[in-house]
Amino acid sequence: MEVLRTNLKILKHPIIDNNLAIIRNKNSDCEKFKNAVKRITYMLIYEATKTLPTVKKEVETPLEKTICDVFDNDAQLIIAPILRAGMIFCEVAQELLPFANVHHIGMYRDEGTLEPVWYYDKRKEIKENKEKVFVIILDPMLATGNSAVDAIKNFIAKGVPEKNITFLSLISSPEGIKKVSEKFNEVQIITSVVDRTLNNKGYILPGLGDAGDRIYNTLD
Ligand code: URA
Repeated sequence: MEVLRTNLKILKHPIIDNNLAIIRNKNSDCEKFKNAVKRITYMLIYEATKTLPTVKKEVETPLEKTICDVFDNDAQLIIAPILRAGMIFCEVAQELLPFANVHHIGMYRDEGTLEPVWYYDKRKEIKENKEKVFVIILDPMLATGNSAVDAIKNFIAKGVPEKNITFLSLISSPEGIKKVSEKFNEVQIITSVVDRTLNNKGYILPGLGDAGDRIYNTLD
């Protein structure tokens, strides 16, 4: 399938590739899996925050004054993990971005329709300065794209500019990328790999199986 995309970044890197091999391997236990995901997460978050606005600030070193680039306090950064698997990115994301607001989004996939069903929404109202609100939506698997589209749509409805929204995933499907791209051509998608396709249950092939089950050790 042709992947129609202008704002897609695939982070090809030996560290990522090596850790992808660990998370794809069905014999990697929960601890190994989580540690490998964390290593990839640092790289994804660095990429996702590359263009966050900064301002100049005077700082005094022990020797003299200098001007540094620091995060713009007027900007608001929202990290939005889609429960439950998206939580895997949160620890690293908060470590790197301690000032970010975390807005949890609870969605599960209806196994019949493959459509997302919302059960928890911890997003706050965004009242002012909407141009300076940046959102990073976190979900390890961009599969059908249905949850991604729903989450993005809801942030746009709250006034967040489309261009300020990033969707971050470990593994994406061509179908998911196409769906998000067709609806939102300004949303940035950052992923470490695009896999072959989806199976008839909406799982990514070759993928890694059910990300939530691998993270939380709930495999049968
Ligand atoms: N969710 C997962 O956990 N895995 C997939 O392959 C697709 C969606």
